[in-house]
Amino acid sequence: MDRIQIIQEIFSKTGFTNYLEIGCQTGKSFLPIRAKNKTAVDPVFKIPIGRKLKNLIKWPSNKHNRYFTEESDAFFANHKDYLKQLGHLDVVLVDGLHNFRTSLNDVLNSLEYLNPKGLILMHDCYPPNAAAAFPAEFFPTDEEIKNLKGWTGEWCGDVWKSVAYLIQKYPDLLETGVINTDYGLGFVMPKSGFKERNFKIDEKLFAEIDKLTYEDMMKNPKETINLKEVGYAGKMISKIASASK
Ligand SMILES: C[S@@+](CC[C@H](N)C(=O)[O-])C[C@H]1O[C@@H](n2cnc3c(N)ncnc32)[C@H](O)[C@@H]1O
Repeated sequence: MDRIQIIQEIFSKTGFTNYLEIGCQTGKSFLPIRAKNKTAVDPVFKIPIGRKLKNLIKWPSNKHNRYFTEESDAFFANHKDYLKQLGHLDVVLVDGLHNFRTSLNDVLNSLEYLNPKGLILMHDCYPPNAAAAFPAEFFPTDEEIKNLKGWTGEWCGDVWKSVAYLIQKYPDLLETGVINTDYGLGFVMPKSGFKERNFKIDEKLFAEIDKLTYEDMMKNPKETINLKEVGYAGKMISKIASASK
């Protein structure tokens, strides 16, 4: 199962209505999702008009989509009223800038508005090799790529560190891990009693996790990022579906 199938099954099996995608690019995952209220955030949208039209015919609700052409930090700072008026975010896909700090901020900001029975998915949390996990502010530069052994053109960055951080910081508040599919789908689900609504980065823990290397994580991914086999996706969907009734 990939991110699109998981997200779609959740909307199909629950009464959820609100979807947020951070990092939308060409709309490959955003447009096909059948949810009532969809919001996309990206500083540089590249959605081909043909794809927009095709998906509008398949799912006419796409005409209500809201597009915010800005970085995620600015979106959360500038559109608090919009987010409050939406009610809860039911499902969020974090797939914007693939570095530790930005992806963690995206999760923490999303948690402020998350339905306590909802889900945050994060793309690219289990890189296939060390080159793909290269920590960079943006995509690795040509100069950096030249020195990257085993570079295949795939880049996941160090988003996996956000999963490691959340596991350590919020063991009682959140169920966090990574499903071993689609370059690693990080999942973040509130546990019962979830109430905290203001999340700030714990800089001491951030610095500790930031020191970890890809090789450190790969020594024991079950422990570091709570890696689950793909079969876990079905269990997670069922759990969300029954909790939402
Ligand atoms: C990997 S692509 C997203 C792919 C898309 N979610 C999909 O599954 O087809 C990453 C996108 O994140 C966007 N991006 C980069 N920095 C961002 C930021 N700070 N906030 C939100 N989006 C960002 C890029 O412009 C790019 O379009």
